[in-house]
Amino acid sequence: MNQVDYLRISLIDRCNFRCQYCMPEGAELDYILKQQLLTDKELLILIEEVFIPVGFTRFRLTGGEPLLRPRVVELVKAIASLPQTQDLSMTTNGFLLAPMAQNLYDAGLRRVNISLDSLDPDTFDQIIGNRGRPRWEQVWQGIHAAYRLGFDPLKLNVVVIPGVNDHEVLDLAALTIDKQWHVRFIEFMPIGNSQLFGDRSWISSEELRQRIRERWGLTESQVRGNGPADVFQIPGAKGTLGFISQMSECFCDRCNRMRLSADGWLRPCLLNETDQIDLKTALRAGISTIELREQVRNLLAIKPDINFKQRYSGTATGVYTRTMSQIGG
Ligand code: GTP
Ligand code: 5AD
Ligand code: SF4
Repeated sequence: MNQVDYLRISLIDRCNFRCQYCMPEGAELDYILKQQLLTDKELLILIEEVFIPVGFTRFRLTGGEPLLRPRVVELVKAIASLPQTQDLSMTTNGFLLAPMAQNLYDAGLRRVNISLDSLDPDTFDQIIGNRGRPRWEQVWQGIHAAYRLGFDPLKLNVVVIPGVNDHEVLDLAALTIDKQWHVRFIEFMPIGNSQLFGDRSWISSEELRQRIRERWGLTESQVRGNGPADVFQIPGAKGTLGFISQMSECFCDRCNRMRLSADGWLRPCLLNETDQIDLKTALRAGISTIELREQVRNLLAIKPDINFKQRYSGTATGVYTRTMSQIGG
């Protein structure tokens, strides 16, 4: 059985973007009320007294948009300074990153994954649902700020949507040629906006690789991350190309992660809404962290049986009550 040692921690369900693939257009999402969010203190208790003792050593901070969480730099510092933390990373949309990157680095964050779905500012605004001042440039600045500071690896996530940004795949792939960036193409999943998914569907990683192969050639990279991406490289490029193929190729068998929502639910699988456990309510009810460890261990034990492999049929558009922004990707 795979070792499950990687926890994705959603710090907040709010987001300053409205990405089409992540939530239905114009949707009014019910945000978690402030008093329902795990406090910094509760989160740190869960990490130190529950997750680390049962074997979690790698943590990723997600959202919504994690940089919207008040005191996020202090939280990063607290988690990074735990001796058992082997890896701490963040998945962000990058909009607030430029002015915060230095402080995050100083607090101990060493790697970030940033969404960049387009190199064209208009397409970018269309994808993120922005009708105000253009936002692409500020994200681009965030990426460069992280790069200059030495965040490594620096990963750029692209959710590929047919007819929206798939024509940019070669341009996005080309970013890896002279920068040590890791561009990852993610197959669009029917979570968050099933209408868009129904209209547009998805493109397989193999088809994208074929396009890239025809242009430059493509070699399998020696680098393998700890995540679901298959890693390739344009010959001679500084960076790599990752392909996250959850639609065409089920990677549940090598799943190494669980997810903690901003309101303290521990979800054993991205798509599993029935077996999650409510750690926050238990903690607030005074249940001991020793007992909570037991609950987490029990969930770990049944995890392989509750992966929703069958939902990866490629056509399934399951109904999930939470959007990706609420789960944290
Ligand atoms: P590292 O390899 O550690 O950098 O992490 P990662 O690639 O898992 O992190 P990131 O947040 O960048 O994830 C990229 C995307 O991969 C997510 O937003 C999801 O779309 C997808 N993904 C990550 N984990 C899972 C998973 O467990 N199941 C499925 N189906 N998709 C996942
Ligand atoms: N399909 C695939 N990936 C998604 N993400 C959000 N919604 C979807 C979806 N429907 C990913 C984004 C971002 C991360 C937080 O979640 O790429 O990097
Ligand atoms: Fe892991 Fe669940 Fe994703 Fe499968 S579907 S890879 S079990 S989180």
